[in-house]
Amino acid sequence: MDQPTGQAYRPPDLVLEAPAKINWYLEVIRRREDGYHELETVMSTLRWADELRFWRRADQELRLHVVEQPGLHLNLSNGPDNLVIRSLQKLREQANISGGMDVLLMKRLPLQAGLGGGSSDAATTLRAANHLWNLNWDNEQLEVVASQVGSDVPFFIRGGSALCLGRGEQIISLPGPTGVPCLVICPNFGLSTPAVFKHVDLQQPRWNREAFLTAFNGKSLLRVTQRMANRLQSAAEAINPRIALIHNTVAKTKPLVTQMTGSGSCVFAFFRTQREAQRAGAWLSAQLRDCRFVVTETVSRRNQIGNHRSKNQADERSRRSPEGIL
Ligand code: C5P
Repeated sequence: MDQPTGQAYRPPDLVLEAPAKINWYLEVIRRREDGYHELETVMSTLRWADELRFWRRADQELRLHVVEQPGLHLNLSNGPDNLVIRSLQKLREQANISGGMDVLLMKRLPLQAGLGGGSSDAATTLRAANHLWNLNWDNEQLEVVASQVGSDVPFFIRGGSALCLGRGEQIISLPGPTGVPCLVICPNFGLSTPAVFKHVDLQQPRWNREAFLTAFNGKSLLRVTQRMANRLQSAAEAINPRIALIHNTVAKTKPLVTQMTGSGSCVFAFFRTQREAQRAGAWLSAQLRDCRFVVTETVSRRNQIGNHRSKNQADERSRRSPEGIL
């Protein structure tokens, strides 16, 4: 794979993964004056990720090249509206520097899916640029810039599991259950986050965040699954009833739990073993022909900076899929 400039090949200066997330718990507290919603949400990153390759440039250009996994049909912009470019611009502004960068984004995560793919790409870009432009900012400083790029972006600076408050940008890291086998079901349509938030019913009795957190910090995954909930799910189902149909079909495979992630459109299910998740995915692929299925698991912390892979390793990695796509 050539670097985006079309110059003679030079190995990337840094290769990082930008993982997907799922929301274990998402409660909407109120609508705010600024149009955002006050949230209480607990998220974890998954072992399923986009990959980004970075090359420092001697000039001030910021260039993005996107390569989509076959079958995704995202037609992602590589212009200034892409969160990767926006993150680089914001960081340059705030750090008062003028560095340039080439970025190659190997896109695997679907859009408008509730997986945070775009936000994760943005956070990964901030971490990479922080390193390659020798800023040496700490996570707290990066999270401030991240929150200006998008509500979900600060969470991905650290990854792992966290309670996110405010509009989602206030992060409290949690240990969280890791290695939980997870089947992600991706419909062939996306959902607009603002549209889903507009449909949310704020009159419902509030769920008990402390009860969820007590379970989440305990040892029983079963107890956690009993307290899981997503306030945006009924709003998404009102926009597209297919979400409810997918959810009900997934429930037939007897997972520990199944729920929509974020503002949708993806639904996920936890299982006791990877094998059970694989088996459920195989059965579901015959029932839900318009969906894509990915077997993965929750992870503790993402690959941190310094886990720089050489060009050969990067190529090897992109040949084999880290997640089991059914
Ligand atoms: O912050 P971000 O740009 O990702 O948010 C996209 C849209 O999602 C916002 O413009 C808003 O309509 C909605 N949103 C919200 N409350 C949040 C986060 C997002 O209403 N906490």
